[in-house]
Amino acid sequence: MLKETIQAALNNQIQTEAFSSQIYLAMASWAETEGLGGTAQFLYKHSDEERMHMLKLVQYVNERGGKALIPQLNQPAKEYKSLTNLFQTLLDHEVMVSNEINNLVDICLSEKDYTTHNFMQWYVAEQIEEEALARTIMDKLNMIGEDKGGLYLFDRDIESISIVNNLDSK
Ligand code: FEO
Repeated sequence: MLKETIQAALNNQIQTEAFSSQIYLAMASWAETEGLGGTAQFLYKHSDEERMHMLKLVQYVNERGGKALIPQLNQPAKEYKSLTNLFQTLLDHEVMVSNEINNLVDICLSEKDYTTHNFMQWYVAEQIEEEALARTIMDKLNMIGEDKGGLYLFDRDIESISIVNNLDSK
């Protein structure tokens, strides 16, 4: 049986993962309407991955005799100034998620819930990958700057970046 504190922390993480999925869905939609088809596909897949992160938590809470809460979500931002602005927002968001996961791991240790601690290790590893990917993308965008040809190639190539990442993380 899950302790109340652990259940509350896991339900908080369910909300974070659900909101991550929602933010990336909004980003994908914005990219699609800006004619950035490759970026849109990357972000649609990223949104699906976040939904899977949420689902894993929902099922874990219920399997351990707790009650998962499906949260209400706020509307994410509708507009981005540029691709750089979008991916910086994504990177900042992932850093925030990593901090939350580290807090959750801390709570598991202080509550001596080693089963949940073990379960959370998958998320710890996933965050390392996600932050690294977002930093690689930001490095590329900073190199490209305002160059239209570079941005065209970036949008074309980012779809395959996401495929490599998906294969690695499954
Ligand atoms: Fe599920 Fe990108 O954190």
